[in-house]
Amino acid sequence: MQTALEQILKGRRSQPHQVIEVLHDIQDSFGYIPEEAMRTVSKELGVPLIEVYRVASFYKAFKLTKQGKYLITICMGTACHVRGAKLLMDQAATQLGLKPNDVSDDGLFSYQHVNCLGACALGPIVTVNGTYYHHMNPAKLRRLIKSLKQAEEGSKNEEN
Ligand code: FES
Repeated sequence: MQTALEQILKGRRSQPHQVIEVLHDIQDSFGYIPEEAMRTVSKELGVPLIEVYRVASFYKAFKLTKQGKYLITICMGTACHVRGAKLLMDQAATQLGLKPNDVSDDGLFSYQHVNCLGACALGPIVTVNGTYYHHMNPAKLRRLIKSLKQAEEGSKNEEN
């Protein structure tokens, strides 16, 4: 991690106005912003750690925890919940063998729940890396996850 951070901070030390750009580069490099990286940014840019955290936690584009290549987000807001969103959480847990916010061993999958994705009339809603899937049910989610796995295996086979 330190080498990548060194590269990102090159030419930006002691420049507090660079904090958002630096956090963007860290997000791009690691897929999230590790706490250790926030501490380094604070020290090297001369920005209080609380301010680095405030910026990192304010913008939705920044993730503070590690996540899989495919982040599955299941809406558990009221409208989706009454249409069976809990069954989608159960499906994801069973099919992926993970708890919410865990990352699969291969680094491909994680899932989380949120309170509303802003498309209540079309619920239950699931997103994968920001792409919306509406009127979801466990069978549709199972096929979606299966298709993501197959796409990954296909791209692996093309590489070999
Ligand atoms: S409650 Fe699910 S999109 Fe609003």
